[in-house]
Amino acid sequence: MNRIDQPDAVRAQVCAWQRAGQRVAFVPTMGNLHAGHFSLVELARRNADRVVASIFVNPTQFGPSEDFARYPRTLTEDAEGLNQAGCDLLFAPSVEALYPLGVAEATRVDVAGLGNILCGAHRAGHFSGVGTVLLRLFHAVPADAAVFGSKDYQQLQIVRRLVRDLLLPIDVIAGVTCREPDGLAMSSRNQYLTPSQRAVAPMLYGMLRETAVSIQMGHPSISVLATGKQKLCDAGFEPDYFELREAGTLAPWRDEFRTGVLLVAARLGSTRLIDNVEFVLVED
Ligand code: PAF
Repeated sequence: MNRIDQPDAVRAQVCAWQRAGQRVAFVPTMGNLHAGHFSLVELARRNADRVVASIFVNPTQFGPSEDFARYPRTLTEDAEGLNQAGCDLLFAPSVEALYPLGVAEATRVDVAGLGNILCGAHRAGHFSGVGTVLLRLFHAVPADAAVFGSKDYQQLQIVRRLVRDLLLPIDVIAGVTCREPDGLAMSSRNQYLTPSQRAVAPMLYGMLRETAVSIQMGHPSISVLATGKQKLCDAGFEPDYFELREAGTLAPWRDEFRTGVLLVAARLGSTRLIDNVEFVLVED
């Protein structure tokens, strides 16, 4: 696996592959990779002739009180894992390479509406930062497809919207959420959990599933959500939100919708975890 740090050089390599008739898939990451990321690389591999992954801890998507400085940087181990997962090329730019005019002066991409709800309402500017870096990454790596995980469900819908709205010629492919054996969604942030927090963390997914089943059985969503949120609080979580939305659009739930998604963001101590479960309502 080759490693390139400069946008021009990675673009030249991707375009050379495409001129030779090869389809290129791209997996953007912030590094500190785990099995969930490697499954995205494998998914990219199945959908393309060449796979490019990026590792870039993007300053514009972290708020002033968030963990940008302490976000784990593990480039050597990540590169080894990517190589084993079948990645052809690692793009690992510096902040200066991706933000040539500086972060404060950066041209930003704002995803109206979708970017300001749920996590966007609790992390001001976060999705603007995600959109801002992804447009830069997509210009540097003009791949045919880009692969994203479904744990970051809102991010995935925002990427789809960005690609459509800005006429980017790129297929967005979603990978399933990878989970630990006890159900906890894999995340680089899980390593911040203390042993006792790690023991209760799987309850987040358990509560999503329990709530989805109750709604499928016809129980009123408002009361089921309130009960679920209270149980999370009782277990020591501090939920930012625990909400039911229409799958895909993330529109506030209406009874005529048939496909739903339950989304949760909750803090355990100083660690913020997110997860979601999609479900379908069948007529009886
Ligand atoms: O999901 C992530 O790791 C990041 O938000 C992304 C998409 C790589 C943008 O920095």
